[in-house]
Amino acid sequence: MTVAGIDLSANEFWSLPLPERAASFALLRAQPRPPFFAEPEVTFAEMGPGYYALVRHADIVEASKHPEVFSSRRGATSIADLPVEFNEFYGSMINMDDPRHARLRRIVSRAFTPRMIARFEDDVRRAATAIVDDLLATGPCDFVSHVAARLPLKIICDMMGIPDDQYDMVLAQTNVILSGFDPEFLSEDPDEVVIQLLGAGQALADLVTGLAAARAEEPAEDLVSALARANIDGEQLTSAELASFFVLLVVAGNETTRTALSHALMLLTAYPEQRALLVADLEGRIAGAVEEIVRYASPVLFMRRTVTRDYTMNGQDYREGDKAVLYYYSGNRDEAVFSDPERFDITRAPNPHVGFGAPGPHFCLGAHLARRELTVMLRELLTRVPDITAGEPDRLLSSFINGIKRLPCQFTG
Ligand code: HEM
Repeated sequence: MTVAGIDLSANEFWSLPLPERAASFALLRAQPRPPFFAEPEVTFAEMGPGYYALVRHADIVEASKHPEVFSSRRGATSIADLPVEFNEFYGSMINMDDPRHARLRRIVSRAFTPRMIARFEDDVRRAATAIVDDLLATGPCDFVSHVAARLPLKIICDMMGIPDDQYDMVLAQTNVILSGFDPEFLSEDPDEVVIQLLGAGQALADLVTGLAAARAEEPAEDLVSALARANIDGEQLTSAELASFFVLLVVAGNETTRTALSHALMLLTAYPEQRALLVADLEGRIAGAVEEIVRYASPVLFMRRTVTRDYTMNGQDYREGDKAVLYYYSGNRDEAVFSDPERFDITRAPNPHVGFGAPGPHFCLGAHLARRELTVMLRELLTRVPDITAGEPDRLLSSFINGIKRLPCQFTG
């Protein structure tokens, strides 16, 4: 393997086995400067100028700390500049800079108050118990659809106040939005892809707009009501902002946590001694295990920034308009920060991973909730289905989400 042979824009790269992918990033990190790549061809966007791949932890942290230079406004979740209507639907605050970002985050954070989160914690426990009840009744099955996908979806829907009969619809639409290049979910015809993506966003937007209208009449104890009420200095979400935030929330909250849970089972299967360590002191070690799972799995592989002015960072000159892609997966394996980074070590301390993004204004809004979901589900599984193991995963072909489509699980239970 040579540096010249690595192309982060090639679909083939993202279908490599994970150890080969990790070895490629190690080679890139060993280069004196961030490598530059031509952009991937995206059927529905014009070919852009290319991008710097920020593969080192220090570059990712520094760029995240300087949002006035490394801007999210031109799109954080795609390397290509997407048509305006895409950013409107899927963007919400992840694709904004201050002051718009700060305003939205302020309003939305109001709804993520400790009281709200405490309510969700009971929901998480109840949901995890019910899912494991079903798993035990079903027997060995696909872990993704029966367990990993169900918990985050149920939690987000409960939080928002979405009725149970809409879950399947929400799941199907998020699968389309975050399908990457995977032909299982998206058409090969570029015009059709645009229709599918916009249609998925619109269906979710319609759902929440209808819900918000109902809650305006009759408020309930859910996030939609709280968001509709949240009002800071006369600031309130418009209905378009609410719809777009909801799309971000279901997309950001579902696939990521699902991916982390699927990797968790794979890791605990691949590293039985780490599993034994965890089980020996579940309450004492679970928090460390969750952080290490997020580091090792890096469910979100990258976020993008666009440089707003000429700037030098860690010895590299950037010009206004340059794109920089923050490869969290690589930063989380940076040997300058993590000793023996390919080792899955639930006792790793400190563990300054960037799986939820690096410190800065866009740091994951749902990190606390995601940690709760992972903790509660792993505790439930390891106590009630102690011999559960994972088989061979069917991985999602995506440069953005380190996803698992299907994962057979076995247990005697
Ligand atoms: C293991 C699970 C998760 C991972 C790995 C993850 C990862 C991330 C990352 C890397 C970012 C981007 C940071 C940046 O651009 O600098 C982010 C942002 C965000 N996440 Fe998460 N996330 C997870 C779970 C969740 C959950 C459960 C929710 C919602 C309930 C959520 C909601 C958000 C939102 C709203 C943002 C945008 C924040 C902003 O732009 O200010 N995430 N997440």
